[in-house]
Amino acid sequence: MSERLVVIGSQWGDEGKGKVTDYFACRADMVVRYQGGNNAGHSVMFNGHKYSLQSIPSGIFNPATVNVMGNGMVVNPESVLVELQKLHDQGITDYQLYISDRAAMVMPWHSALDGAYEALKGGKLIGTTKKGIGPAYSDKYSRIGLRMGDLLEPEYFAERLQGALEQKNMELKMLGLPTYDFHEVYDRYMEIAKILGPRIVDTSDLINKALRGDKKILFEGAQGMMLCIDHGTYPFVTSSTPSSASVPVGAGISPKWIDNVLGVAKAYCTRVGEGPFPTELHDEIAHEIRERGHEYGTVTGRPRRVGWFDAVVARYTSRLAGIDNWALMLFDVLSGLDKVKICTHYELDGKIIDTPPSTISKLARCKPVFIEMEGWKDDITGIRSYDELPEAAKAYVKKIEELTEVPVGVISVGPDRTQTIIVSEKLKNF
Ligand code: IMP
Repeated sequence: MSERLVVIGSQWGDEGKGKVTDYFACRADMVVRYQGGNNAGHSVMFNGHKYSLQSIPSGIFNPATVNVMGNGMVVNPESVLVELQKLHDQGITDYQLYISDRAAMVMPWHSALDGAYEALKGGKLIGTTKKGIGPAYSDKYSRIGLRMGDLLEPEYFAERLQGALEQKNMELKMLGLPTYDFHEVYDRYMEIAKILGPRIVDTSDLINKALRGDKKILFEGAQGMMLCIDHGTYPFVTSSTPSSASVPVGAGISPKWIDNVLGVAKAYCTRVGEGPFPTELHDEIAHEIRERGHEYGTVTGRPRRVGWFDAVVARYTSRLAGIDNWALMLFDVLSGLDKVKICTHYELDGKIIDTPPSTISKLARCKPVFIEMEGWKDDITGIRSYDELPEAAKAYVKKIEELTEVPVGVISVGPDRTQTIIVSEKLKNF
């Protein structure tokens, strides 16, 4: 019987999913991405090398692991080629990668439109990664998008491209942006089809066969739950659902297979881009955490906003995604602080609330209610078991478990694969 593990970001993205996914990917037979695109930036560190992935699943470093880019993703084939080239340059040449024939494609005009839509918002930017993710998902749902499988049928692709360009060129012209020539785009995508064509398959069939076999399958979420198009801090969100709930649709499997969800959370919080962030810090501690945690975007290089751990957000995301365990990341970054804080509730217009409100106007008015706890001075980067952690650090972990009613199953004490404490027995056996 197969074993499944869903790894999702439970805050605003960048929680350290790359490391956790990589840790479990080493033992997985299959790693599946099911939403988002190359807006994600996963950093993975092992054997002293740092690798960055955007749209390619984290199992790519293990030649025995089958990597799948599912139908729920928006795939930018040019970006896939660049990523593969970078991996080749770093000596990663032996891998298995498949892309869903039903995955929507991010086309060159999508990034141009992403930038233009942002510019039109004047001061009210979303702060997107400008990778064209929103416009690509919009075209998917407007039913004028192109899909990866279209590349395998040149005549059909030409017909779909013609239709898309008629609309898109009109829009681009209206916005004063350069338009696209059908023949140029067609020729380039036929070249791409020659390279990526053998990898484009019915991935739902592939995954379902693995599910019915004796395989370990990892579903790798991108972004974080608070960036969810439905449940996040709308409109400051991405255009997909980073939850475990989107695995069935985005991978083409039955929801009945989802039974082990690992919610990745930083031991504090960060956010890139705009939007309310109730526990945000603007003081020296923010600076200290940012520098020690290297809190700069992997995709855009932007400094990340930093705040205390938000148990209101954690409870909310665990309820939405059915989180079985937390993976508490960058725990070592908090070492050395005199005091640490956790937000237990918000105060909104004089009332105490324990779940985030639906609008950002209300969320922006939420004041965090904190509990303050003793910090710990010791360097914990060399610790490999829960029992060896300083008492104050254990108390911090226990408080998170108590406030969220979810056990901490993994604790990360440094960027390397080996700097990982697995607390949960179930996860030890994955
Ligand atoms: P988009 O996904 O490029 O449309 O950007 C929408 C919002 O999601 C912006 O605030 C981005 O900064 C944020 N975002 C998108 N991908 C990630 C990610 O992988 N980590 C953190 N934030 C992200």
